[in-house]
Parts: sequence; structure tokens; C-alpha cells
Amino acid sequence: MKNNGMLAHHRPQWKTNLGFLFAAVGSAIGLGNIWRFSYLCYKNGGGAFLIPYLIALITVGLPLMVLELGLGHKMRGSAPASMASVSKKWEWLGWWQVIFVMFGIVLYYSVVISWCLNYFFFSFDLGWGPDPDTFFFKDFLMVSGGPHQIGHLRTPVVFTLLLIWFLNWIIVFKGVQKGLERANKIFMPLLFSLTAVIVLWSLKLPGAKEGIMVYLKPDFSRLKDPHVWMDAFSQIFFTLSLGFGIMITYASYLPRKSNIVKDSLAIGFINCFFSLFAGFGVFAILGYMSQATSSPITEVVSQSIGLAFVVYPKAISLLPYFSRAFGVIFFGILVIAGLSSAISITEAFTSSLIDKFHYPRKAVTSVLCVFGFLGSIVFATQAGIHWLDIVDHFLTQYGLVVGAICECVLIAWIYKAQRLRQHINHYGDWKLKFWWDMCVRVISPLVLIFIFISSVAEELSVSYGGYSRVAIILIGRDWLIYTLFVAIIVASHPWRSDPKERMLASE
Ligand code: ALA
Repeated sequence: MKNNGMLAHHRPQWKTNLGFLFAAVGSAIGLGNIWRFSYLCYKNGGGAFLIPYLIALITVGLPLMVLELGLGHKMRGSAPASMASVSKKWEWLGWWQVIFVMFGIVLYYSVVISWCLNYFFFSFDLGWGPDPDTFFFKDFLMVSGGPHQIGHLRTPVVFTLLLIWFLNWIIVFKGVQKGLERANKIFMPLLFSLTAVIVLWSLKLPGAKEGIMVYLKPDFSRLKDPHVWMDAFSQIFFTLSLGFGIMITYASYLPRKSNIVKDSLAIGFINCFFSLFAGFGVFAILGYMSQATSSPITEVVSQSIGLAFVVYPKAISLLPYFSRAFGVIFFGILVIAGLSSAISITEAFTSSLIDKFHYPRKAVTSVLCVFGFLGSIVFATQAGIHWLDIVDHFLTQYGLVVGAICECVLIAWIYKAQRLRQHINHYGDWKLKFWWDMCVRVISPLVLIFIFISSVAEELSVSYGGYSRVAIILIGRDWLIYTLFVAIIVASHPWRSDPKERMLASE
């Protein structure tokens, strides 16, 4: 018990609740908030899309946020430690989540941040030239013919990637208070103020109003399409960093007296409000561009990656004044948003290794970031964008969703939602009611199972992105299978100390 008492004593803790909120919001607000949300909104019925989006937030997003924060707070452990405290047989689930996120999502995610960093530098002299499309795909990425044609490394991407991993390392290396909390206390106010500058600036441009109309004009007939609902639910999931093991870990650093319900609501609403707000900026500038080029907005708008690296640079070049400053701020925002999410992923894995093997944090982060950088390299090749597309599709569409379904089964059914609710209500002032049990026991898993089945059905009927079946299987499906395999092996390894005692020692 002595040893475990010490363990509990040594568990890092956020200095302030605001520090925790900044870190959790920093994890949630990421690359996807700035352009993916606005594009999805536009594609899926404009203002009408806000209906499924809000329903997804209320029925799945917030209940699962409460579940993950509550679990981490109760068990005082990373995802594997928390799952193992509930049932040793389920420890693999926590490992699987943190492994495929660390050796999957963050590998390509950091490459996209490194593109943003390159574009941040390009903005100083509008380096993408008069044809940003050709520049991005042919000159900058030199995209190969398919995932099997790896080609060579893109040196500008590798250099900035190294910098991103270095920053990631230095922040996580310094620990919870001096690294993550301090960094997010700088990142978040900076992110919010720069975003406000960009949005207000964009709203003042001629044509902005027309852009906003296109963004939010409700087309309720789109709500009949199940894809619209699937998009809303999967976006909520990714954007709130659910199923990543991050929120469990972050909540494990909270003091006992914490208001889990209030914090969950704050994280969920700030994140979604940020997406909506950033969308105004994105569409205002598209409206401006459409007016400046006398082409309809439907022709200038494009999908996620194209929107940030092709359409936006085009629009920036068209700005009447201070276009370079606009570009520097816009890509700076993307780098900050991306980095604050990437560090949360590294922390979730670091914390898992520390919990189980008691390795020193500094050694863990150093080794992890070297491997992370090396693992990212494949996404920095000429085939990188193809790999990114396939891996992202499988890990987010299947990995996160299956992980979350299992979380619901484990916590809401095996551990019992009511027990976790009692814990949350015991320590927090805002009380959870029975409806939450209903959400995590029935509604959330059913919705997630529906998304999973629909995705599989679609997968079997058309090959994702037109890639060959071999590429899909080897790069996409097998990524999930191998990480699962590794998770099972790691989970079978004995603990240095019983994960449950960490929690008992702190009760
Ligand atoms: N939640 C992070 C994002 O939206 C991962 O990018």
C-alpha cells in the first residue's frame, strides 16, 4: 500500500481548473474545426446541418465526454489503467485506443501540421504563386500516382515535421503543469484572439454576406439523407477527441473535488461554438473570392484539404491589402490548433506507459517522439497524401467508433453507468440525472452501431476513394488489426503495481 500511496501522491495534477479546461479544449479544437466543419455544414444542408450536429452533440458527444472524464477521474489513470481497473480482461481496449491514435492518427496529423507550417512561411511572400492548385499537388507534395508509388521524401515537409515533433516532445517532456498546462495557457488565448481577428476581418470583405448565406442557408430536404447524419456523428466524435484515450488521461490529473458535468459541457460547447464561428470566416472569404472572380461560390468551394491548401491561398492572394499578414495569421492558427491536439495524443500514450511500467516521463517522451517522427516519414513521401487519406478513413471511421462502442459496453453495462454517475455526482456540484444512463447504455451505442454498420455496407459496395482493394486492406484495415494485436500483447504484460490501488489510495 505504501508504494501505491506514493504513486497516488506522485500523480501529476493540473494547477488550476482553467488550465485543465484550456488543455482539454486545446485537444478538442484541432485542424478539423477550421475547415472540415464548415465544409461539412455547407455540403450537408447549411444551417439545416446544425440540427443533426446538435443532436449528435447532445446524444453522443456530451454523454461520452462525461463518461470519459468521469472514468479518468474515478480511476485516476490513463485509458489502459482505467479500463484495467474496471476489468483486467478489457485492458486491451485502452491500449488499442492509445496505440492506434499514437501510431496512426498523430503520425499523419503531424504531417498536416507541418504542411500548415510550410504554408505559414509561404504566406510571407505568397509563395504558392498564381496557381495554388498545381503548386500544392505538383510542386509542394509532388503527389505520386497512388499509394504503392512511394517516390522520395519531400524535404520541406520533413524539415517542418522535425520541428513539429520537437515542439511536441519539449511540451510533453516538461510534464503536465510545466508543459501541457503552460503551453495551452499560451496557445488557447492566442488561438481565440487570432481567430477573432481573421473572422472579423473576413466579415468586412465585400461579398462576405453572400458567402455566409451559402454557408448557413438551410436546406431541410438534405436531412432525409443518412449520410448527413453519419457525417454529423463522426464529426462530433473526432472533433471532441472522443475514443482517443485523451479525455480519460486528462481527467485523471484533476483533483478529487471536480465538476465533471460542468467541465464536459464547457469543452463540448466551446469546441462546437469555435467550429461554427470559424466557419463564418471561411465562408465570408469564399464569398469575397466568388465576387472578386465573378464565379459562383459553388465553384470556388472545395473539400477539406483542398479548401485549406488550394482555395484559401487563392483567396488570400486576391485580398486587396495585408494579404500576407492574413495568410500568416490563418496558417498560424492552424499550426496552433493542430499542435495543441497533437500534444494531447502524445500525452495519452506517455501516461499509459508511465502508469503500467513506471518508466520515467523524460525517457518515455524522448523515445516516443523519435519513433513518432520516424513513423510520420511515410506520410512525408510523395505517396503521403494517399496513405493519409486511407489511414485517416479507417482509423476515424472504424477505430474510434468501435473503441467507443466497446467503451459504452464496458463502462455503462459491465461497470454500470449508475455507479459512475454516483461518483460524478458525489464530487461535483452539477448533478447528472438518469437520462445520462440512458444515453450511454442505449442511445450512444445504438447510434454508433448504426454508423459502423452503414460504413461497412458502404465499404463493401464501393472501394474507398477509388483505391485498389489491396491498398485498402494493407494500409487501412491491417493498420487497425496490427495495432489491436500489439495492444493485446502489451495488455498481457504484468503491471508493476495493481492499477486499482492507485484509485483506492486516493479515495
Ligand atoms: N479533436 C482534434 C481535431 O478536431 C483531434 O482535430
